[in-house]
Amino acid sequence: MLYIDLSNKKALVTGSTRGIGRSVAEFLAKAGASVAITGRDNSRAEEVAREIAQTYRVEAFGVAMDMSNETSIKEAYSQIESRWGGVDILVNNAGITKDKLFLRMSLQDWEEVIKVNLTGTFVITSLAVKAMLKNRWGRVVNISSVVGFTGNVGQVNYSSTKSALIGFTKSLAKELASRNITVNAVAPGFIETDMTSVLPEDLKQSYLKNIPLGRFGKPEDVAGAVLFLCSDYANYITGEVIHVNGGMY
Ligand code: NAI
Repeated sequence: MLYIDLSNKKALVTGSTRGIGRSVAEFLAKAGASVAITGRDNSRAEEVAREIAQTYRVEAFGVAMDMSNETSIKEAYSQIESRWGGVDILVNNAGITKDKLFLRMSLQDWEEVIKVNLTGTFVITSLAVKAMLKNRWGRVVNISSVVGFTGNVGQVNYSSTKSALIGFTKSLAKELASRNITVNAVAPGFIETDMTSVLPEDLKQSYLKNIPLGRFGKPEDVAGAVLFLCSDYANYITGEVIHVNGGMY
């Protein structure tokens, strides 16, 4: 029987207290990986880590890492480093939206989204790849979005970050390949989480009409693709994007 064994791996998933990030952390834990759970709120991160440790019998710990703040990212990562010496797997999942039509979008709306989705990803990846380079093994998975490919009304800021993550993925993949570090992206379509729960019902129904599989995605649909990319079955895949969108694009 084939199985995925990540039991000697340490994984960091950003924004893993809920939604897609939490599901990714659970899938990695199910495969035996130790996981660092991060989010803005320390006690929430610790609570989720406790639940994961109990359920999957792996090492899990929570730490506050605010992806909009370089100092917070560095402080949190130094805690992870002092515990583990570094990580083998980094999943850049944390992301926010600040949807507005372009003509109403302020510089602040633009900068806030860039800061979390893109600059935060740059900062944590720069730190996390150090141990991977030393170990000559690593996995980086960036969570992009279908709108990084299609664009979307009201999401000039958000979709720009999600397209940029594709350039980030492909360039970094080329730079790190010689050290056996793969860098890939997963681009989810419409996934049922807190992020999409706030959308008006009529808008959701119009999205649904364009999904050939006839349903919205679940966080686990995305987590499965991330787990595959972190596994040995994806050893020869780098600079790639897996679309998880029910066929909508
Ligand atoms: P969510 O809103 O449920 O979760 C986002 C996660 O990011 C949360 O854990 C939140 O605490 C964290 N986060 C937000 N700002 C943060 C900050 N400053 N510092 C640290 N953590 C922060 O959203 P969801 O849907 O789980 O999104 C996860 C990723 O998937 C995001 O990058 C999102 O852009 C992407 N995505 C989601 C889709 C969807 O339909 N839900 C579609 C395509 C991509």
